[in-house]
Amino acid sequence: MNGTDSKVIVALDFPQQQQALDLVERLDPSLCRLKVGKEMFTRLGPQFVEQLSNRGYDIFLDLKFHDIPNTVAAACDAAADLGVWMINLHASGGRRMMMAARERLEQRSERPLLVAVTILTSLGVEDIAEVGYQGEPAENVLRLAKLTDESGLDGVVCSPREASEIRRQLGQDFLLVTPGVRPSSAAKDDQRRVMTPADAMVAGSSYLVVGRPITAADDPIQALQAINAEVSESLA
Ligand code: C5P
Repeated sequence: MNGTDSKVIVALDFPQQQQALDLVERLDPSLCRLKVGKEMFTRLGPQFVEQLSNRGYDIFLDLKFHDIPNTVAAACDAAADLGVWMINLHASGGRRMMMAARERLEQRSERPLLVAVTILTSLGVEDIAEVGYQGEPAENVLRLAKLTDESGLDGVVCSPREASEIRRQLGQDFLLVTPGVRPSSAAKDDQRRVMTPADAMVAGSSYLVVGRPITAADDPIQALQAINAEVSESLA
């Protein structure tokens, strides 16, 4: 783990390895962490993650595991072998699945942080009703965040809009990792309900996942530094 104190996790969403590596060369591991998701991992595999780690970056491996407890625990163990900083799973896999993952990771001398996805922000009230959840997405997010906490995980991935209520109910030690962040100067892209980095921090975010405002910027390092500065100011 490289120990940067930046709250920014840059989402590396590129179809090609070279594009990702070109960006990584321009960034700096003392200024951010990196998120590798399903697309890049499926194309490029564990070696790609190791390549990024070897350049000094802390990696959030965003594979959102969801399976029977034994399988998810084994997958988390395999992810931890890559030396990543953070991994995740779906809280809807249930208490036993989450506990199995946590218990497997706790057998290690050094382990990655383990966070859960509650309700995907792409799902609306009708979508969740169709798969058997009652009520509003926000109520289910809170219920699953509590289950995540009871299962001993480190936190959840959530919308910055959900952050303040989860923070209020689950306390200061629970990690909140929030995508959907846009500096006020940046385009919203396809994100609908966005918050600025400062507002997300004030709402209780622990880490901000930021993709295109950095990855598509003419000067990615300058865009990153501006977000780091905004975060520092909001924490001061
Ligand atoms: O480019 P942008 O900042 O929108 O990228 C955000 C990243 O966070 C992407 O990797 C996206 O898949 C992820 N994400 C998200 N919204 C969620 C969960 C994950 O934007 N609710």
